[in-house]
Amino acid sequence: MAKTKENSMEKFVSFCKRRGFIFQSSEIYGGFSSCYDYGPLGVELKNNVKRAWWRAMVQENRDIVGLDASILMSPKVWQASGHLTEGFADPMVECKKCHKRFRPDHLEDKKRCPECGGELTGARQFNLMMKTSVGPVEDTASEAYLRAETCQGIYMNFENVRDSMRLKIPFGIAQIGKAFRNEITPGNFTFRMREFEQMEMQYFTNPKEKARHFKKLKEARLKWYLDLGIEKKKLKFHEQTPDELAHYSKAAFDIEYEFPFGVDELEGIHDRGDWDLSNHSEHSKQDLRYFDDQTKEKYFPHVIETSAGADRAALTFLLDAFSVVHGGRTKTTESAKEEEFVLKIDKRLAPIKVAILPLSKKPELAKPAQEIFDELKQEWQIQYDETGSIGRRYRRQDEIGTPYCVTFDFDSPKDKAVTVRDRDTMEQERVKIDELKIYFREKLGD
Ligand code: GAP
Repeated sequence: MAKTKENSMEKFVSFCKRRGFIFQSSEIYGGFSSCYDYGPLGVELKNNVKRAWWRAMVQENRDIVGLDASILMSPKVWQASGHLTEGFADPMVECKKCHKRFRPDHLEDKKRCPECGGELTGARQFNLMMKTSVGPVEDTASEAYLRAETCQGIYMNFENVRDSMRLKIPFGIAQIGKAFRNEITPGNFTFRMREFEQMEMQYFTNPKEKARHFKKLKEARLKWYLDLGIEKKKLKFHEQTPDELAHYSKAAFDIEYEFPFGVDELEGIHDRGDWDLSNHSEHSKQDLRYFDDQTKEKYFPHVIETSAGADRAALTFLLDAFSVVHGGRTKTTESAKEEEFVLKIDKRLAPIKVAILPLSKKPELAKPAQEIFDELKQEWQIQYDETGSIGRRYRRQDEIGTPYCVTFDFDSPKDKAVTVRDRDTMEQERVKIDELKIYFREKLGD
């Protein structure tokens, strides 16, 4: 049985749709460029990714707390943060005839439109902030922006959180939420979208201590992906060169992953210095410096930021786990040419943890199997499936990454036991029905 990791994005995208992970937004209207919807399995997976991040960031650290700030904020935030003024923009050329815009570095002929042949303008900077208007009257006074990075909400609440939680430097504030960018070149499925979700943590430190925290956070973030099963040789750090650094960054390392469409950024770990707090202090006229009551020092804390995309992480976990197996794994394919998909995803991220499969639809098997389903669903996201041959049902569960299948067979009413099949080893084990919960607590954790 030959196993290969499949590199074709096309096959992967159609798999995501067919099995209810990710759909194109507004599909019946021809789709809406670079926006995607998560289906019933996709939302479970993405929630598990966010839960794993929150657990590693907030729950398991004494010095990091959570926050959920609003998407809309005063436009003054974006003025002070430099997003409206400091090059949160991409250079673009525009066709004078059809008015389509292109990134000049993506064009072979810089003078002619690649679509209609019209003359192109010189390069101009296009800001990536997404504008909206707030209130009933659409005028410049009501102009606002959808946040382009979640962390500005953290800076807005630096004092509120520090004060209400009686925190002392160093400490971190973590947040998960939507961000919006008018990306000029979205693409590669959910890799670059105009609406996406970020998982960001801002760690506030004394500037003298920041090198140590930078190193620790870099290592912790790489370890998170490895612990959750991403193939080690596909991950690496890339240190940003001065011309790659964002306007707020003093130094930055990207965690990069080898995607089927090339090596690209998965997450960024940034030294933002005191850029944000000092600028917000200056613009708001509020003193955001920190007073150290032991050393009597007053200073702007420096920030080490870890900034991950929830969608990009979910895409990476899916792609990394997506395997194509040729021939006969579940006895539903006969020739070695036929393909089966197996999603070898970490159990903590799997959308469905257990599938309950009665060997027959007959009530003497289906009814007790449904009782097992009712019992286990109180603790885990599980599925019940009684349609098709058992091989087909295993295959459907392997495809969506379900770690365990429970088969209730004709012996089960007599020996009060079921067969549990492991997705990865395909080994089968007989387990007593009244010990199933303890069995899965051990296997799945929480
Ligand atoms: N606060 C810093 C910041 O936003 P960034 O490098 O612009 O830094 C951080 O973004 C992460 O957010 C990226 O590594 C990526 O995972 C995710 N991200 C950024 N733009 C995205 C987009 N258009 N679509 C999907 N994810 C995106």
